[in-house]
Amino acid sequence: MSETTETRPVKGELLHEGKAKKVFKTDREDLLIQEFKNDATAFDGTKKGTIEGKGTVNCQVSAMMFKLLAENGIENHYVELLSENAMAILPVEIIPVEVVVRNITAGSLVRHRGFEEGKKLDPTIVEWYLKNNELHDPLINDSHILAFGYLDEDGMALLREKALKINEILLEFFAGIGIDLVDFKLEFGRRPDGSIILADEISPDTCRLWDKETGRKLDKDRFRFDLGDVEEAYQEILKRTATAN
Ligand code: TMP
Repeated sequence: MSETTETRPVKGELLHEGKAKKVFKTDREDLLIQEFKNDATAFDGTKKGTIEGKGTVNCQVSAMMFKLLAENGIENHYVELLSENAMAILPVEIIPVEVVVRNITAGSLVRHRGFEEGKKLDPTIVEWYLKNNELHDPLINDSHILAFGYLDEDGMALLREKALKINEILLEFFAGIGIDLVDFKLEFGRRPDGSIILADEISPDTCRLWDKETGRKLDKDRFRFDLGDVEEAYQEILKRTATAN
């Protein structure tokens, strides 16, 4: 745990509740608390359930990934762990553009683009999705982002560059614990000074993680597609991630 706060922030009013996390104000202007829930949803919330222990796994794995990324020059909103399922974070204004990075074909690339699952992608694919549940997070392109003013050309180039650097760091980390990082989703936010940093979470909810030896899926696809042993897969990711640190 990185002890960067002098006094632990005290949880205040609920600022925002999403499908998998709650964000609270604290007694400090410069810090928020992000709490991870066991609630699981898929397909825009049409499938709902609970994954026992998910909040803890996603919080602990995210904390480790954010620390690793910070050590490698990727600024992010993580400050410190406060409990097994809560972390202190820096306040940011989330940019409503989700960045998806894909190393291997899976998910919507198979469902909507007709690719066969499990093929290595070269070059790596970077995609933008509009963060809007009501519109089902549609795929968007550079022109949409510019025309609606979500980012300028420099902002898009910066996010693409950061996403690919994050991919390199995470690919190497997961390879070291016997896992193929198939794809993942990132969210970025603006700090009051205008700088853009990585935010949200990096966890089995937001990454596809396949065991290198067996190909077994160790991520939220087990919940999405009723593959069974969901809790066990999340625990396996926590166990491998923690032993690597
Ligand atoms: P996709 O193949 O369904 O488009 O998902 C790509 C990656 O993004 C995958 O690792 C799961 C993650 N993801 C989220 O984190 N949130 C979402 O709402 C969706 C649809 C995908």
